[in-house]
Amino acid sequence: MLSEFNLKNKVAIVTGGCRGLGKAMAIGLAKHGCNIVVSDIIYDEACKTVKEIQKLGVKAIAVKTDVSSKESVEDMIKETMKKFKKIDILINNAGIYRPTPLELMKKEEWDKMMKINLEGYLFCAQAVFPYMKKQKKGTIINIASIAGLSSFASSAAYNASKAAIIMLTKTIAQDWAKYGIRCNAICPGVFATAMTKNMLKDKTFQQMIKAAVPLQRPGKPQELVGLAVYLASDASSYMTGSIITIDGGWTCHL
Ligand SMILES: NC(=O)c1ccc[n+]([C@@H]2O[C@H](COP(=O)([O-])OP(=O)(O)OC[C@H]3O[C@@H](n4cnc5c(N)ncnc54)[C@H](O)[C@@H]3O)[C@@H](O)[C@H]2O)c1
Repeated sequence: MLSEFNLKNKVAIVTGGCRGLGKAMAIGLAKHGCNIVVSDIIYDEACKTVKEIQKLGVKAIAVKTDVSSKESVEDMIKETMKKFKKIDILINNAGIYRPTPLELMKKEEWDKMMKINLEGYLFCAQAVFPYMKKQKKGTIINIASIAGLSSFASSAAYNASKAAIIMLTKTIAQDWAKYGIRCNAICPGVFATAMTKNMLKDKTFQQMIKAAVPLQRPGKPQELVGLAVYLASDASSYMTGSIITIDGGWTCHL
């Protein structure tokens, strides 16, 4: 392992870390020596993921968190500090996707998406800020989406939340660089997780992916891990405010 990628004795919070992309990134960071807080609204699954991570020889805890609640996020930070005494890395990943035709979208649906996908990222970033500022170092990785760069049909709230995450990323990068805090965003294309399971079963969707994505397939969660480790580590020490697509080439022609 290159020393710049070493995450030994670092502490990372991964929101939505019990499954899917969050779990893959949590395990990937742990394989590089990082201690992990698996923060998720599904506590049982988070505990199972923690057991898998502990087998890698690092420390890990599960914390039940609803990222759309500032109080719940603050409690999660308290538990993290109680166990690990520091926070080096935050991966803002917890999110939901509920497609709805724009003309039928209810205010409650819009609000829920914005609360989890956008405010959740803000609450977590604000909550880790004092600790990262104190140690004059920290890195925040926001999982956005290519939907924040180019719209998905019938997904106004999701698209808007992800576009806003991109601008939140740039603002954090600009405002907090002076404190040694870096912030970058990853924009995945379509990856095979619980979020996309039903869509990926659909023949028309499969054909669309084959036609639209130059690599002609969805990504596997494992294929996002190298980028997350890179952004979490000192290997990316001169990167902040960057918005990186990882999408099998889909956005080349969008
Ligand atoms: N899978 C894809 O194709 C894809 C593409 C682009 C972006 N993304 C983004 O990647 C992230 C992870 O997605 P995934 O595909 O792994 O989905 P997933 O549904 O498998 O995982 C999302 C996780 O977030 C958790 N979560 C949901 N609401 C929460 C809340 N209020 N508080 C705390 N945790 C909550 C869920 O319990 C789950 O563990 C999301 O932000 C998603 O928008 C996914």
